[in-house]
Amino acid sequence: MGILEKIDNSKLPIHIAIIMDGNGRWAKKRGFLRILGHENGVKSVRESCEACAELGVKFLTLYAFSTENWNRPKDEVNALMNLLVKTIKAETPTLLKNNIRLQTIGDFEKLPENCQIELKKIIKETEHNNRTTLVLALSYSSKWDIVNSVKKIAEKVKNNEISLDDINDEMINNSLTTGPFPHPELLIRTSGELRLSNFLLWELAYSEFYFTDTLWPDFRKNDLYKAILDYQNRERRFGKTSEQISN
Ligand code: FPP
Repeated sequence: MGILEKIDNSKLPIHIAIIMDGNGRWAKKRGFLRILGHENGVKSVRESCEACAELGVKFLTLYAFSTENWNRPKDEVNALMNLLVKTIKAETPTLLKNNIRLQTIGDFEKLPENCQIELKKIIKETEHNNRTTLVLALSYSSKWDIVNSVKKIAEKVKNNEISLDDINDEMINNSLTTGPFPHPELLIRTSGELRLSNFLLWELAYSEFYFTDTLWPDFRKNDLYKAILDYQNRERRFGKTSEQISN
């Protein structure tokens, strides 16, 4: 039995989030420039999107560029932004063919103008697609999102639109750029690093984590299936006991 056949379609995660890591190391191992690692990571992005759409995973969030990534050498930042624009344009037919809707989270206004224009175009073009939603985290960091959310709420308190007692879990959640999406049940990080790197700190409160040594440019559909299978064998207790869950 192949790995795909072992997946229980009735127990699929609704939302998978991925920290795509290891592009630089993949390139270094081959004596290439770092950007070649990112370029080769595009195939892994395509495979992951296709696999989610084929399986029926409703949301896939990819950590494509963090707030902290702006501090990388200028050449690498420019190359990554150009690659993003090029990929968005080239992959539009794949998104349309697979009925995938594109959305973003993060500080959209901070992205270069051409990048914003291309993104807006494809977001509009795919807005009615409903097989899978691909959420790109761009100029995103969880602390940035949480601070912004708190500011939006504080402003409402200041303007007497709400009182302090109105602030709750749901209000904070809905003020985040991730507010429209359900929280991921499964987080995958490639390249053997065991940390969250300021990604979805609020949203991953009860998620299952899956770490693999595979570098992002080598990540294929089968690697995604393995992560899903691993997830399906976990017991999610949400603070309850094992007995409560099985009853
Ligand atoms: C982390 O690897 C990866 C990134 C910062 C960028 C990811 C971008 C892509 C895969 C390109 C295209 C993406 C989309 C969504 C179109 P790293 O550079 O930190 O690797 P290292 O830890 O080995 O140095």
